[in-house]
Amino acid sequence: MNTKIIMLKEGSLDKSMIKEPAESIKKGKLVIFPTETVYGLGANALDSDAVKKIFEAKGRPQDNPLIVHISDFDEIEPLVSSIPDVARKLMNEFWPGPMTMILPKANIIPDTTSASLPSVGIRMPSNIVARELIKQAGVPIAAPSANISGRPSPTDVERCIEDMDGKVDYILGGEMCDIGVESTVIDCTVDPICVLRPGGITIEMLKRIDKNAYIDPAIMKKPGKDFKPKAPGMKYRHYAPKAHVKIINGDLQKTIAKINEMMQNYIDGNKKVGVMATDETKLLYNNGLVKSLGSRKDMLSISKNLFETLRSFDDDNVDIILSEGFEEIGVGVAVMNRLKKSAGFDILTV
Ligand code: TXA
Ligand code: MG
Repeated sequence: MNTKIIMLKEGSLDKSMIKEPAESIKKGKLVIFPTETVYGLGANALDSDAVKKIFEAKGRPQDNPLIVHISDFDEIEPLVSSIPDVARKLMNEFWPGPMTMILPKANIIPDTTSASLPSVGIRMPSNIVARELIKQAGVPIAAPSANISGRPSPTDVERCIEDMDGKVDYILGGEMCDIGVESTVIDCTVDPICVLRPGGITIEMLKRIDKNAYIDPAIMKKPGKDFKPKAPGMKYRHYAPKAHVKIINGDLQKTIAKINEMMQNYIDGNKKVGVMATDETKLLYNNGLVKSLGSRKDMLSISKNLFETLRSFDDDNVDIILSEGFEEIGVGVAVMNRLKKSAGFDILTV
């Protein structure tokens, strides 16, 4: 397949450039587009054959449902069979933005999109290119992250091209995604609401709407027979670069000392080591390929750079990535969730 790449600027968007990809969505084709979280691989959510092509392009397991994206508030009504009060409050507060609500689905949602579940995830992104594409297509767009299944999600158009060139009809490129981790997925079919996947809308923010809101306890642990995450997608090995990732977490001084010690052992064993550090610590490592995720004072800079940094270590062919850990509050919950999964839960507490 010949993939057409179209570069767009969110700030000064030329809407006419979206016409062709929007038309092609209507015709059942695949279009990659930027969102504020990660790039999405989109198709008409109501067209079962089109949605099947998403699963094929990504190599995605069939039992993992897709999120349906809309461009305006009134587009949610036909897609769901009911909207509880709490969901209305959530959408008024956090849409457009990095929040997906799981609601009972309406019959027009094909089983391919919802993986035969009785519910469906709906999100209204804030990215202007994404919303314009949905609006011009005139249909809701089902879109998982635009990576090959299992790899870190793409936050930059180059990574979409790397994974998906030749497998999709269009790639719309924009600026690097701001948030860098996927949307917060919230089960709104239960009371209190439950976070199935942490993201940019934090539990602290959600508790302002539902004081009893909680995070699915299974998701921060290694999936096993005792801990089965509620969101089908959270059970898979995920966000994994080719190199093995190890997290060292705890007191920062001890973390740095431990990473330096471990690094020397790996280097003595002829391994190429990458260190995922922060602005505050990057000069304190004796050796290895050191990259900073951003400042510890700004967790959004860390989340923004996380996936891209993981993927860039693969370009450098490192054998092992030693990563600092982060406190699990605010966006730190989402960062640690993705980091733990990328490390296959290989985490050392110091
Ligand atoms: O930020 C995002 O959400 C990005 C951008 C493109 O919008 N999309 C994204 O989609 O991350 P995906 O397919 O990579 O992740 C969707 C997650 C999976 O973990 C899936 O299992 C869960 O949402 N999910 C979707 N529908 C669900 C449902 N009805 N019930 C429970 N979990 C659901
Ligand atoms: Mg994904």
